[in-house]
Amino acid sequence: MADMVTRFGASVDTGLLQHFDKLARAKGYTNRSEVIRDLMREFIVANEWNLDDKRSIGTVTLVYNHHAVDLSERLTSIQHDYHAIIISTLHIHLDCDNCLEVIIVKGHGKQLEEVANALITAKGVLLGRLVVTAVDGLL
Ligand code: NI
Repeated sequence: MADMVTRFGASVDTGLLQHFDKLARAKGYTNRSEVIRDLMREFIVANEWNLDDKRSIGTVTLVYNHHAVDLSERLTSIQHDYHAIIISTLHIHLDCDNCLEVIIVKGHGKQLEEVANALITAKGVLLGRLVVTAVDGLL
């Protein structure tokens, strides 16, 4: 990002600003500008990663029952198909039946969406979510 700084003003309801400041302090922010910068980055990532197919990094989180027929093998097979964009996989045995997997993915937005959809829609996956954390130009 460019290192030039621009100051700007904004008009908001007093109650909204007080609520915002209270939550920001509770989270540990020491000034309003830092919160606004973080929110702007979050807004850009949330709205830009798949629109412009930017290079992005994120995580796919899955919860599944490993007793589901062939599911573990199918999830492993999908991950092999996308080995070029999968950086690492963390597997936790949650209990006797269920597993949590967090898969770190890096590539163009559409690739991340494609591998996430393949994993999340595999029959037997109970919960799944792709979280894109950063896009090119914001780091
Ligand atoms: Ni497991």
